[in-house]
Amino acid sequence: MTKNNNLLIITSALPYANGPLHFGHLLEHIQTDIWVRTNRAMNKNCIYICASDAHGTPIMLKAEEEGISPEDLIEKVTEQQKNSLVKFNIQHDNYYTTHSEENKYFSEHIFNSADKKGLILRKKIKQLFDDTKGLFLADRYVQGECPKCGAKNQYGDNCEICGATYEATELINPKSIFSGKKPSIKESEHLFFDVAACIDNLQKWIKETKLQSSVKNKIQEWFIDGLKPWDISRDAPYFGFKIPGYDDKYFYVWLDAPIGYIASLENFLKKEKNKTSKDLWGEKSDTEIYHFIGKDIMNFHTLFWPCMLEAGGFKKPTNVFIHGFMTLNGKKMSKSKKNFLLVDDYLDVLKPDLIRYYLASKLSTGVDDLDMDLKDFQKKVNTDLVGKFVNIASRSQGFLKKDGNKLSQSLDLEIIDKFISKKEEIFSLFLSRDFSKAIKEIMQLADKANQYIDFHKPWELNKNEDNLEDVKKIASTAINLFRILNLYLEPVIPETSEKIKNYLKSNQSLDDLSTNLINHQIDIFKPLMFRIEDVEINKLNEISQNG
Ligand code: 2FM
Ligand code: ZN
Repeated sequence: MTKNNNLLIITSALPYANGPLHFGHLLEHIQTDIWVRTNRAMNKNCIYICASDAHGTPIMLKAEEEGISPEDLIEKVTEQQKNSLVKFNIQHDNYYTTHSEENKYFSEHIFNSADKKGLILRKKIKQLFDDTKGLFLADRYVQGECPKCGAKNQYGDNCEICGATYEATELINPKSIFSGKKPSIKESEHLFFDVAACIDNLQKWIKETKLQSSVKNKIQEWFIDGLKPWDISRDAPYFGFKIPGYDDKYFYVWLDAPIGYIASLENFLKKEKNKTSKDLWGEKSDTEIYHFIGKDIMNFHTLFWPCMLEAGGFKKPTNVFIHGFMTLNGKKMSKSKKNFLLVDDYLDVLKPDLIRYYLASKLSTGVDDLDMDLKDFQKKVNTDLVGKFVNIASRSQGFLKKDGNKLSQSLDLEIIDKFISKKEEIFSLFLSRDFSKAIKEIMQLADKANQYIDFHKPWELNKNEDNLEDVKKIASTAINLFRILNLYLEPVIPETSEKIKNYLKSNQSLDDLSTNLINHQIDIFKPLMFRIEDVEINKLNEISQNG
């Protein structure tokens, strides 16, 4: 395979810096990482970027609650997040934070460019203000009665009972969730991004981009509803970047969050390469840009973000890949409903590759939710990875012992070549993010490898010394089939693949797929993977139910 010179910039959504990562984050990072590793295995140049999303009222309040500065909170949490993801072998090139000099620079640049192009509107709006707390109240910080149906305890944006949407100022008997007091109404000037003015560019981008069909449909619905100006400012007190020209106004967190992708890239390039984000992400560059995100933040990435990029002279995404939510044991993940797992809790019990494999076996190209059923997880890993894949090696290696664990010169090339010829199909499934189909194909091959051993019955042949060469040939063929499957599974289970390569005493990459191991000494067999036991699943269930 030749090196494709187009650079790929690939991102996962930036997790908020107010807490440790949960399983929802993990789903997205694993999906992205498998895709990055697939591209890398195919010799594409990739830069995988992420950061913590450090601004906004919740982070300001969390720091206050912990009695530390927001900067200290961000530093602590970013480090924690980075460490957790490294343990799952997520191969980011840079995990930065949006509270950075680079991000301030690019946020101001994009804002100023948009302002010069007449895309920033200024308008006075009325907002609820908690006089006791001294804070403007975002919709989730105020509760009252629904102005349409009168239902009690509804938040400031919509009613969970009748589905009505409204302004927080329309709530009847509103109360601040902080002081419990009735908020006052304050008027102030806000800054808005004129999204409707960008409609032609947006339409063009959507037409040219291979977005998932359900995503295209949703965007068309937004177009039909009409594109309202997007409020990009927040009044003090707020934690974020000050808007140029104002003393008491800040960029709304969602303005500078995606710009954090560019800033994290810039920070990476400063450390590693002699290039800038402008070179690599500029509107004329050949770079391909891919964002992996959850369906809840689609509007930010498919409406506002392309508009911001256009305004700032940056290239719009080549694609935005959207996944559904993760449920746990068939129910919504929720800390308060005691159905919740943090990524670090998992690592106390099981190895990262096991969940990487399970999620890959369930991920496809759609935006449907994905259920992490712990019993199903146990069954899937035990059946596929232990029972089928690793079993190929564990049932073959014994037959090589007599000859000092040396693979034979002669192999059954017909089956080996069949396995090798599956590469294009499997890797194109990985590339199109149809991981579940790729895994199915690989497991069908694992079945075939086991059937090959069953058919030739080396344990029978082994009873007669005269069959030594045949027995070796069968076992060596099986080990080579195992080698091939290991290269196919490498983007999904990198840690195990590495272990297997050590066992095979071979550091082959996908480019070496057709090079069989012949006359080659392998290591003494050590168990490469263990079954997931009931006690481990019980432990995870227990942790998830403790909230
Ligand atoms: O929804 C979230 O968790 C946001 N912190 C994601 C930001 S992604 C990007 F735009 F920064
Ligand atoms: Zn209602």
